[in-house]
This record gives sequence, structure tokens and C-alpha cells, in this order.
Amino acid sequence: MHILPATEPRPGEGDGQGGPAMRGYLVAIFLSAVFLYYVLHCILWGTNAYWVPPVEMKRRNKIQPCLSKPAFASLLRFHQFHPFLCAADFKKIASLYGGDKFDLPYGIRTSAEYFRLALSKLQSCDLFDESDNVPCKKCVVVGNGGVLKNKTLGEKIDSYDVIIRMNNGPVLGHEEEVGRRTTFRLFYPESVFSDPNHNDPNTTAILTAFKPLDLKWLWELLTGGKINTNGFWKKPALNLIYRPYQIRILDPFIIRMAAYELLHFPKVFPKNQKPKHPTTGIIAITLAFHICHEVHLAGFKYNFSDLKSPLHYYGNATMSLMSKNAYHNVTAEQLFLKDIIEKNFVINLTED
Ligand SMILES: *[C@@H]1O[C@H](CO)[C@@H](O)[C@H](O)[C@H]1NC(C)=O
Ligand SMILES: *[C@@H]1O[C@H](CO)[C@@H](O)[C@H](O)[C@H]1NC(C)=O
Ligand SMILES: *[C@@H]1O[C@H](CO)[C@@H](O)[C@H](O)[C@H]1NC(C)=O
Ligand SMILES: *[C@@H]1O[C@H](CO)[C@@H](O)[C@H](O)[C@H]1NC(C)=O
Ligand SMILES: *[C@@H]1O[C@H](CO)[C@@H](O)[C@H](O)[C@H]1NC(C)=O
Ligand SMILES: *[C@@H]1O[C@H](CO)[C@@H](O)[C@H](O)[C@H]1NC(C)=O
Repeated sequence: MHILPATEPRPGEGDGQGGPAMRGYLVAIFLSAVFLYYVLHCILWGTNAYWVPPVEMKRRNKIQPCLSKPAFASLLRFHQFHPFLCAADFKKIASLYGGDKFDLPYGIRTSAEYFRLALSKLQSCDLFDESDNVPCKKCVVVGNGGVLKNKTLGEKIDSYDVIIRMNNGPVLGHEEEVGRRTTFRLFYPESVFSDPNHNDPNTTAILTAFKPLDLKWLWELLTGGKINTNGFWKKPALNLIYRPYQIRILDPFIIRMAAYELLHFPKVFPKNQKPKHPTTGIIAITLAFHICHEVHLAGFKYNFSDLKSPLHYYGNATMSLMSKNAYHNVTAEQLFLKDIIEKNFVINLTED
């Protein structure tokens, strides 16, 4: 890298020696040197897990740098990553991280216009509240597993800096089992609450878009338009309980990392198989890995040996529903969870 500055013209060197042609030549050399320096800089620092990309700085509240190494750092390319799309620069971020080379749910290719429309209706892409200044966050990801039933983890869960929940796993009526606070809740149109009683104004609700229609749905709800329910695998919510200030759109980068880096899914599936995508639970853990310093899990467990056992800590669904799932690879997810627990990358709170 030290050889590069030598090609930079020194002040005055171009003047009076070669006229405009020479000057143009020197400017070109200078610009390529700057460009090369930048590329080299990125390559060198890109391998560093603590590299924070320059674009991130421009965001209103960047993640506080947490300098001690999290246990799971070896799993990640970038430990700290701004996980939400911002209307102003989501295309730039996508080309920086390769999101422009993947379709939903892994990138913005062919859906950039849907992303732009939905983002144009949101009010913020901030991660944490401006008053928040805890640099190394202790997080808990609360799965919706039946394993939480009849447990009293509520108080413990509420004691974390950041509490991540997903879909329609309720807090209301289950405070003793799962706690009261929710920092983030990942959702998609088929899984989001429609009863306003479930809204907590302190929650940031994160749309996890799996298909272009999910973004169109959000845009339609926020513009007060009519919802077309065709194309959803289950009837989507027809009203939004969250206010625009609470809503964010998850960067598909996080879903891509979950699928390819953590679950090691193939990029192409055989023709006779439906492509598998990560469950919201694994996406939530991947999100936690990119914004937290310590990650604990609760409610991540499936008991496949008893198809009649409860699937969730709420409602009546049983395990038989999950075992029929063609959209996820539950085996791969179970192996991944077992692995990160065994390596102490995360702590399993539902351990007896
Ligand atoms: C939870 O407790 C209720 C009432 O005590 C009991 O009927 C139910 O079987 C328990 N569920 C589980 C999953 O242990
Ligand atoms: C929301 O946050 C405020 C301020 O921290 C707090 O007083 C309030 O109890 C919280 N509400 C809920 C439902 O957690
Ligand atoms: C799963 O369910 C079966 C049948 O109810 C039970 O015997 C077994 O202990 C359960 N396994 C776990 C890991 O809880
Ligand atoms: C679960 O089943 C019970 C008894 O069959 C029923 O009363 C209850 O409404 C059901 N709950 C849900 C959420 O479907
Ligand atoms: C699911 O993942 C496991 C473990 O990675 C793999 O062996 C299996 O072939 C996958 N199944 C499908 C249907 O993709
Ligand atoms: C967490 O611990 C419980 C109890 O030992 C176990 O049944 C469950 O499978 C564990 N969770 C995961 C994801 O391995």
C-alpha cells in the first residue's frame, strides 16, 4: 500500500511543465491512485470483523462501537452492521454488500422499486433510540416454542438490554412466561398481529420481506389503499397496528447471511424441491449477531418425537404443523442451534 502515494502528484509538479494534456494525465493518475488506495483500504479492512463501512457513518445514529469481541464473532463477516434499510441510500448499500445481485428474500434485485415505495412511507431507519448509549448490548431472542409454556422466564427475559421477538408471539396474557418488554419484533404480512391491543409503542416492528408482495402490502397499508390478498400463503393482516415511526424494513443482507453463512443453504436447489429459506427465528438470531455483543436464546426447541406437543407457547398449534413445512429446512436449523449452543456462542435459557 505504501507504494501508492508515490504516484500522487506533488503540488505544483504538473504546472508549467507539460500544459493541459500533461495536467489531464496527472489528474487521471491521481484519481486512479485515490481509487486504488480506496479499494485496497476496503480489501484490507473488509477482512476485519470490526470494520464499519464509511456509509454507515452517515446514518443518524450509528451503532455504538463495542470493542470487545463477541463469542460468535468467528461466524460473521461484519460484526456490526446497520440492519435496516434507509430510503436515502438502500441502493448504495445494496451494491456495496452485493444485495443487488440477489432476489428476495436475499437482496433487492428486481424489487428495488417495491423497496423504494415502502421505504418512502416510513419515518426512520434508526436502530436504537437516540438516548441509548449502551455500547455492548446483551440481547435475548425469544422464540415462540412450546418449551416456554409453564415456565416462568418472564422476569429474566425482561432484564436484557434488547429483547427480540417474532411474528405473533404474544406478550399480553403471557407475561410470566415470556416477559413484557419487546425491543424488536420481526414480522411478515401473514404473521403480524391485527389486534391493536398487542401494540407496544416502545417496540420497533421489523418487516422481513420474503416476496415483492410483502413490500407492496406494507405500502398499501401505509397509503390507506385497498389490500389485494392474492398471492399470500395465508390471509395477511388487513390493518397495521404499528405506527409508521415504529416500522423498519430488514436489510435482506441479514436473511442472506442466515441462509448462506449460518445455515449453509445451497444457492440452487434441485428442480423437484422448493427452495428452503430460514425461519424468522434464525433470521432474528442473525440480526442479534449483527447488533449485539452477547446473545441468549429462549423458546427455541421443537420436539419432533411428539407431533402432538404444543408448537408455540400460545394457541393450539401442534408440532405436526411444523413437520409438514416445505419452505424451511428444520433439520439444518436444529443442527445450527445445537452447534452454537455447544460452542457457547449463545446461551440457551430454556435449558433445564
Ligand atoms: C401447563 O400447565 C397446565 C396447567 O397446569 C397443564 O394442563 C399443561 O399440560 C401444561 N403444559 C405443558 C406443556 O407442560
Ligand atoms: C415504554 O417506555 C416508557 C419509557 O421508558 C416506559 O415508561 C413505559 O412503561 C414503556 N411501555 C411499555 C408498554 O413497556
Ligand atoms: C418429546 O416428546 C416425547 C413424547 O411426549 C417425550 O417423551 C420426550 O421426552 C420429549 N423430548 C424432549 C427433548 O423434550
Ligand atoms: C384452543 O382450544 C381450546 C379448546 O379446544 C379453545 O377453547 C381455544 O379457543 C383454542 N384457542 C385458540 C387460540 O385457538
Ligand atoms: C437440510 O439440511 C441438512 C443439513 O444441512 C441437509 O443434509 C439436508 O439435505 C437438507 N434438506 C433439504 C430438503 O434441503
Ligand atoms: C435448550 O435446552 C433445553 C433443555 O435442555 C433443550 O431441550 C433444548 O433443545 C435446548 N434448545 C436448543 C435450541 O437446543
